[in-house]
Amino acid sequence: MIDLLDIRYVRLGTRDLAAADRFAREVVGLERVREEAGALYYRSDDRDHTLVYFEGDPRDHTVGFELRDAGALDAAAGRLADAGLAVRAGSAEACEQRRVGGFVNFEDATGNRIDLVVRPQHSGRRYFPARDAGITGFSHVGLCSTDPARDEAFWTGVLGARVSDRIGAAALLRIDEVHHKVALFPTTRAGVQHVNHQVASIDDVMRAWYQLQRRGVRIVFGPGRHPTSGAVFLYFEGPDGMVFEYSTGVRTITPAQEASYRPRQFPRANESFCMWGSVPDIAEFKA
Ligand SMILES: [Fe+2]
Repeated sequence: MIDLLDIRYVRLGTRDLAAADRFAREVVGLERVREEAGALYYRSDDRDHTLVYFEGDPRDHTVGFELRDAGALDAAAGRLADAGLAVRAGSAEACEQRRVGGFVNFEDATGNRIDLVVRPQHSGRRYFPARDAGITGFSHVGLCSTDPARDEAFWTGVLGARVSDRIGAAALLRIDEVHHKVALFPTTRAGVQHVNHQVASIDDVMRAWYQLQRRGVRIVFGPGRHPTSGAVFLYFEGPDGMVFEYSTGVRTITPAQEASYRPRQFPRANESFCMWGSVPDIAEFKA
């Protein structure tokens, strides 16, 4: 079984790098690390980078996950090839751009592009944001799924993820103690459905709610609380229609709880997404 240690970064194409840069720094509150080869790199915690905007197709998204070592990467590439997937090794140049020791790239059956990386770089400098959004780090993505049962079987059977809860057909998947680092939402396209950053407290979520409205940013869901993960959240719209989320207080499932933990099935209803009564204006969350 492939063992995903953590989610590492998300790479998003855009036709308007200047607008994406303003959004990433001034709205989300990320720190710009560098501009290199037509791409802008941002960090949200002590990792080298956690978000990349590159000049390209706005539908071109890649999510990076960390593996333990080169042996694990070789084994993963073999396992994916056995599963019938086309696995591409990252070139030296692509490794240098990603600040990783090595990586392979593949697409799941929906067409979601995934990098598996080893030795991703950390930064010796502490994260110094462009605005104080209270961000503590990049934490999860929603991924599109054209067949949630098929994709859940792949993510659990091949990639070693565990189901924490389900809302309708959508599986919330953990790869470590955090309730979910990936969630698979039924839809008709491929790619990243939303990008989550954790913030320190509910005060940061509510402060963002007022600040983003003042800036004219479209709030698409919340403030609210997920009955699944227990997290308090706010979702808002970024460049190219991408949904970004701040959340805080996500539940963990500790190693001691793993053996007895059972995923819960929630109906596809508004109250399964928000226990406070907020109604999502996000296509994949609509009841
Ligand atoms: Fe989320």
